[in-house]
Amino acid sequence: MKLSLFISFFFILIALSQITTASSWSRKLYDKFHFLFKNKFRFRSKPESNGKLCALLVAGSNGWYNYRHQADVAHAYHVLKSHGVHENDIIVMMFDDIANSKSNPFPGKLYNNPNGNDVYEGIKINYKGRSVSPDNFVAVLKGDKTKVHGGNGRVIDCGENDRVFIYFTDHGGVGLIAFPEGILSTKQLNDALDYMHENKKYGELVFYLEACESGSMFEGVLKDNKKIYAITAANGHESSWGTYCDNKWNLPCLGDLFSTNWMEDSDKEELTTETLETQFEIVRKETNLSHVIQFGDLSIAKEPVANFQGEPSSQHRRHKWKIGTVRNIDNVEDSEDDDDNDDDSDDVQKVSWPSRDIKLNHLKLQLDRTNSKLKASELAAEIEDIKDERREIKKVFFDLVSELADTKEEAVEIVNKRTAVLRVHCHHKLVHLFNLHCVNFSRHDYALKYTHILNNLCTYYGEEELILLKEVKAYCDKLDN
Ligand SMILES: *[C@@H]1O[C@H](CO)[C@@H](O)[C@H](O)[C@H]1NC(C)=O
Ligand SMILES: *[C@@H]1O[C@H](CO)[C@@H](O)[C@H](O)[C@H]1NC(C)=O
Repeated sequence: MKLSLFISFFFILIALSQITTASSWSRKLYDKFHFLFKNKFRFRSKPESNGKLCALLVAGSNGWYNYRHQADVAHAYHVLKSHGVHENDIIVMMFDDIANSKSNPFPGKLYNNPNGNDVYEGIKINYKGRSVSPDNFVAVLKGDKTKVHGGNGRVIDCGENDRVFIYFTDHGGVGLIAFPEGILSTKQLNDALDYMHENKKYGELVFYLEACESGSMFEGVLKDNKKIYAITAANGHESSWGTYCDNKWNLPCLGDLFSTNWMEDSDKEELTTETLETQFEIVRKETNLSHVIQFGDLSIAKEPVANFQGEPSSQHRRHKWKIGTVRNIDNVEDSEDDDDNDDDSDDVQKVSWPSRDIKLNHLKLQLDRTNSKLKASELAAEIEDIKDERREIKKVFFDLVSELADTKEEAVEIVNKRTAVLRVHCHHKLVHLFNLHCVNFSRHDYALKYTHILNNLCTYYGEEELILLKEVKAYCDKLDN
């Protein structure tokens, strides 16, 4: 009896120990599979690279002082083409008023780097002038030919096994990007991306976005389950920067800082081995005046840049695109050594200015440099006009807030607070209403600086969106434009 009790106790012990070993075994097995599983995604055999690549490049501005946006897009076109992307797979939207502008000392040419090639050469533009519109941009994204007005009607024609690359550069504000005429809200952009996802218009999509406060276009809105990976030039609360602003030709800034950083990287790296994540890290480090941020499905960033900027073999390169020798600016020792050998004209210093101050700073620089009294007084008058315009714009926003806020403390908060776009629908309605009835953002891009106030008003009014819209409309109607 005692013995059988002892034996059964013994067996229970064994059984217990089996269970614990089994569970540690299963844990190990799980870890092993989990590891393999994770790595399958980390080093995935890129099934999408069998599909094709569709690219959309957009410069959302016009006007001489916005030279850089069209130079950026023209450069991006050559980055893709020189990596083997066929011109039929690239859609370009740019107003095209810069290369042949009367102000251009190099008619028919655009430069994105003081030592670079003419980037305008050979570019095929699909949407020019007024056809560079928010509606056409959305129609092109959705692949909806019936909604396109003007341009040559081309839309993104990709499917669920394909990759889409979008690069957009222009002015922006909190939760919106601008076009030569009109604006696009974060709601409109993300609705279009959702539509593309639901209707299998891509397998994976990569979006590079240069604009002030560009992070606000995706922050809290772009989910990580849409197979979209986005990089923005700035976070949601800061300016992005133009660069090559003090150049030997006295041209307005030739490029944007984030944009030239990614393109100069793509020009010199082997894109079949460099991953998007590496490019992001390099560009983030070099873009040291704003915060470059990534959003969405970060697993896509493990893929080679070539999947989105060129065919996966550099053997396919038709010609070697040489943008010019760019001094390795992150290696200070080297550049000091080089100084003796370098001719001044080869010195590519990235002098960068906040996007919204470019025209003003450019005029101030011309004023410093001119010897002509007449020219100086013209420049001084132009500078005064800009300052007056700024004062007026600021007053429109501040008066609006003091009219709508209940207390002084609330007014101060609405003017200063910085948040993501929390009420996406209200924000969308309000920025469009404001653009239509208060200040035309396309004509006064400086007003974009205060769009966080509109965003804050939506948060402040909460559910009372309709009341807010009515009150802002009434306020705007009182202004004499
Ligand atoms: C940013 O980087 C550039 C080039 O490396 C350097 O000249 C500049 O001083 C840096 N600016 C800041 C604010 O760190
Ligand atoms: C805003 O300005 C642009 C550019 O001058 C113009 O084409 C557009 O019609 C204006 N929009 C409104 C609503 O006045």
